[in-house]
Amino acid sequence: MNDLPRITIGILTLSDRASRGDYEDVSGPAIRAYLEDRLVNPLDFVYRVIPDEPDLIRGHLIGMCDRDGCAVVCTTGGTGPTLRDVTPEATADVCRIMLPGFGEEMRRVSMRDVPTAILSRQTAGMRGHTLIINLPGNPKAIAVCLDAVIGAVPGAVHLAGGPKITLRK
Ligand code: MTE
Repeated sequence: MNDLPRITIGILTLSDRASRGDYEDVSGPAIRAYLEDRLVNPLDFVYRVIPDEPDLIRGHLIGMCDRDGCAVVCTTGGTGPTLRDVTPEATADVCRIMLPGFGEEMRRVSMRDVPTAILSRQTAGMRGHTLIINLPGNPKAIAVCLDAVIGAVPGAVHLAGGPKITLRK
């Protein structure tokens, strides 16, 4: 157990209203709680709440990957069809390759319970050794979507040369 590397996780909440303080972000803390429960590695977190601005999103994603050395970055929010939703495009802008299977599987599982999950354009991709995963903004979506893909996270990070991530059974 002790030889598991300490890893850093980025959590980036995209919400105009939460970033203004109109309400408290619930989804970011839900991602943290989920990963603390499922990952065995000792974890550090970098957490930011910012508005749905493409330049800001790209800048924070690049910083979390290249400066903070995150193994995984989870975004929440900004995946839908409103005029302010730009998270998947900003994610694709900073990634070397996309992993569309993550989004396909998260939508597939979500649509069993929530027909409007078809509206989410959530995706995933790799920047360097970092796996970036988009999650919808609804706090209820966090566990549903992460449950759908968490099994693929250690392999994706490992294949891209990142640290060894171990899931709790
Ligand atoms: N997925 C799950 N599992 N649960 C949800 O409640 N909401 C959907 C969808 N995916 C939802 C979901 C809705 S209503 C929208 S509009 C899209 O995610 C986009 O949400 P976002 O813009 O907050 O990312």
